[in-house]
Amino acid sequence: MIDPSPCFRGAALMPDAADASRAPRWSVDLPDLTGRRAVVTGASDGVGAEIARGLARAGAEVIMPVRSKAKGERVIAGIREDDPAASLSLRSLDLSSLASSRALSRQLRAEGVPVDILVLNAGVIRLKDRVRHVTADGIELHLQTNALGHALLVADLLPLLRARGARVVAQCSLATRRAAIPWRDVNLERGYRPMRAYGASKAALGLFAVELARRSAAGGWGVTSLLCHPGTAMTNIAPADSPLRRGLVGRLAQALYERGIGLQSPAEAALPALYAATSPHAHSGDMVVPSGMFEIAGAPALREPYRALTGRAEAARVWDLVTELTGAHFPDAGGASDQATPNSGGNTNPTPSTQPA
Ligand SMILES: NC(=O)c1ccc[n+]([C@@H]2O[C@H](COP(=O)([O-])OP(=O)(O)OC[C@H]3O[C@@H](n4cnc5c(N)ncnc54)[C@H](OP(=O)(O)O)[C@@H]3O)[C@@H](O)[C@H]2O)c1
Repeated sequence: MIDPSPCFRGAALMPDAADASRAPRWSVDLPDLTGRRAVVTGASDGVGAEIARGLARAGAEVIMPVRSKAKGERVIAGIREDDPAASLSLRSLDLSSLASSRALSRQLRAEGVPVDILVLNAGVIRLKDRVRHVTADGIELHLQTNALGHALLVADLLPLLRARGARVVAQCSLATRRAAIPWRDVNLERGYRPMRAYGASKAALGLFAVELARRSAAGGWGVTSLLCHPGTAMTNIAPADSPLRRGLVGRLAQALYERGIGLQSPAEAALPALYAATSPHAHSGDMVVPSGMFEIAGAPALREPYRALTGRAEAARVWDLVTELTGAHFPDAGGASDQATPNSGGNTNPTPSTQPA
């Protein structure tokens, strides 16, 4: 059920540089994040750039692990045009490489600064490409980039996440509502389709986040794990020449968007993640989504995770898949899947790190 109560009011976020022609129709007020460190994956473009902007504007030190230094630098320059004091810096990350995920964690651990907010936002969907891609680690590309690479990051960063009771936010998708993990063929060697691979990868990410909430509660890790999705936003994830944008429906959506109707702008689409990352009303295991019709657009609202993400056995199976395929190591949480229901008793984090100081 969507929580009908409005989440945050106010006008904390301004129109973004990439989409200056269209002012956001809704916004969230963020608490003062001065002294907090946030890590946002996929911040070199689209929604992630706006998540980074929002967190930096609230005073957080924002780390942007990116594939392309040039793209990352352009985003930082754009944010600093509006906010010269914004604290943002780049690190290197290619989620399609387990070695790269591990190298980032090593680097952040060597820096020794606790992470207060980790937004698992980066994502890929190879819409125009019918060919299945397998990474150098032998894993289907969507599964590794969108889910397993992120899960490995969480495992390796756990000491930094536990240090001040971090919030971990998993950027899922509307596709997660009906997506299923093809357990007999997780790498989709048969029946590969881009949307199927994308949906399965986002389902894996969502189930991982739900299981993280349970294990954190059961093991006393102090980490708050939340899910969100941005609705449907105009970004480069679906390039202008992709089937989603080229068809009649795509062109209609584009025309409406240009008139301020329908789809989210990147700045609007960043709000569910920003709300999940900071709101005292969002508890471990909750999901934050756009509140409008079919969750395509709208101010962020709380809801329970989709039914497809509530199977305990399946969530535990994803956890096992993560450890098996990535070698991730998590502390024992004592069979968490059977023991704890994180969002039934309020926030698992006794002193939420993202509260105003
Ligand atoms: N836009 C939507 O309607 C929509 C709907 C549902 C869910 N989402 C989710 O929202 C998130 C953000 O999407 P978006 O619309 O902002 O897409 P986007 O504009 O294409 O941005 C995707 C980001 O992910 C990064 N990324 C892709 N592959 C990566 C890899 N192997 N390693 C590290 N980073 C990688 C990209 O880096 P580069 O700059 O190097 O390409 C980029 O920064 C994604 O998880 C997406 O699945 C979006």
